[in-house]
Amino acid sequence: MTIREIYKNSEQFLNKEVKLGGWIRSIRGSKHFGFLVLHDGTFFKPIQVVYEEKLANFQEISKMNVGAAVIVEGILVPTPQAKQPFEIQATSVTLEGASAPDYPLQKKRHSLEYLRTISHLRPRTNTFQAVFRIRSMAAYAIHQFFQERGFVYVHTPLITASDCEGAGEMFQVTTLDLNNIPKDKEEKVDFTQDFFGKPTNLTVSGQLNAETFAQAFRNTYTFGPTFRAENSNTARHAAEFWMIEPEMAFADLKDDMEVAEAMLKYVISYVMENAPEEMDFLNQFVDKGLKDRLNHVLNAEFGHVTYTEAVEILEKHNDEFEYKVSWGTDLQTEHERYLTEEVFKRPVFVTDYPKEIKAFYMKLNQDGKTVAAMDCLVPGIGEIIGGSQREDDYDLLRKRMEEVGLDEENYQFYLDLRKYGSTHHSGFGLGFERCVMYLTGISNIRDAIPFPRTVNNCEL
Ligand code: 4AD
Ligand code: MG
Repeated sequence: MTIREIYKNSEQFLNKEVKLGGWIRSIRGSKHFGFLVLHDGTFFKPIQVVYEEKLANFQEISKMNVGAAVIVEGILVPTPQAKQPFEIQATSVTLEGASAPDYPLQKKRHSLEYLRTISHLRPRTNTFQAVFRIRSMAAYAIHQFFQERGFVYVHTPLITASDCEGAGEMFQVTTLDLNNIPKDKEEKVDFTQDFFGKPTNLTVSGQLNAETFAQAFRNTYTFGPTFRAENSNTARHAAEFWMIEPEMAFADLKDDMEVAEAMLKYVISYVMENAPEEMDFLNQFVDKGLKDRLNHVLNAEFGHVTYTEAVEILEKHNDEFEYKVSWGTDLQTEHERYLTEEVFKRPVFVTDYPKEIKAFYMKLNQDGKTVAAMDCLVPGIGEIIGGSQREDDYDLLRKRMEEVGLDEENYQFYLDLRKYGSTHHSGFGLGFERCVMYLTGISNIRDAIPFPRTVNNCEL
């Protein structure tokens, strides 16, 4: 039996015997009776347990510490005047595993920074119970969104020889003896001796492989971990993060944005509907505007602006920015947030970026200068989605690959897709941690993933 079952079907359990395993969140006793608050992890709310001196081990219970694992048996009785609708009058409380008195999670609010130092224990706190249940739920909702629409889920490889984004931010994978790797830059590492016979790395994106499935199944998506050795120590960059990447044949940039908007709205309403206790808690203790903001998003149409228009808007405010904007510069977080928070006040798609600041695979527009790209920016975070229509012309793609200096050998399969039944097609990548931040109001990516990996941090 679980606390979730009891809350969901309390009628069925009231005034009957119940049995629960859980952990003590708080305990206070007096001479003749005491209360302990029990969480079992299955539901956001706890259940209060009353234990009285008639229990044979009353003294032992009174000495139990916060964090101890116990098995409680008793009668579930209604408590109409109290904060919780019912409590358990214990007939027995058995210790399953004691908790040492130095248990770090005492009944007080701990800072998120402190909790990061104990990431093995933080899932036991209210905040992380809420964040990580919502994370789990959001993953389910995203699968459901795509599965309901007939998309095929493809598992793309984590080890690869390509660099999808062309940013050179890869973690290398090697079995070569690091002690024998030449320190001198002139002398080359002999990768023919390596496991795969050539240099390989952890993937930065599953897109290129997903495209092969789109040209076979039409609508496909990946949802897996990706890795970037970006040396940026910010609240929204992680070295290991999860990405959702749909890829659709016979879809243009407009179709791409429609799917992105529908998906975000779907996951927001799924979480608001299915995690009301968690959302109330986050709205009260983490981000007071959270629920209003998300409700607003559900009822608003996302904004649309081209990169060129966005630059015109931003240039007028250059004196407010650390990095000045002009046509051709990449937008920084401060610019993205200005657009979505000050100008549009809702999520906004920025489209048609200069080709020089975007990846090689994006479709060149008629103007020859911009590509059919879209970034979705949201208030509080900035970029949450990056996507594009893909270059489907063999010659143009090859030319672009040459310009950016890609080794054609590793991308032959990708060129082949343009040779055998090429279609116009599009896709995007949603950063899952940024999505979790958006859904929970959590402001640091380190608190949106169970075990964060960032520069100089790989604990647990
Ligand atoms: O814009 P990005 O680099 O796009 C791609 O990787 C494409 N291949 C996606 C596609 O079209 N299939 O990354 C997509 C999203 C970003 O918008 C951001 O939300 C997230 O991934 N992201 C990160 N999240 C956390 N930490 C990082 N270092 C991230 N880098 C990108
Ligand atoms: Mg991007």
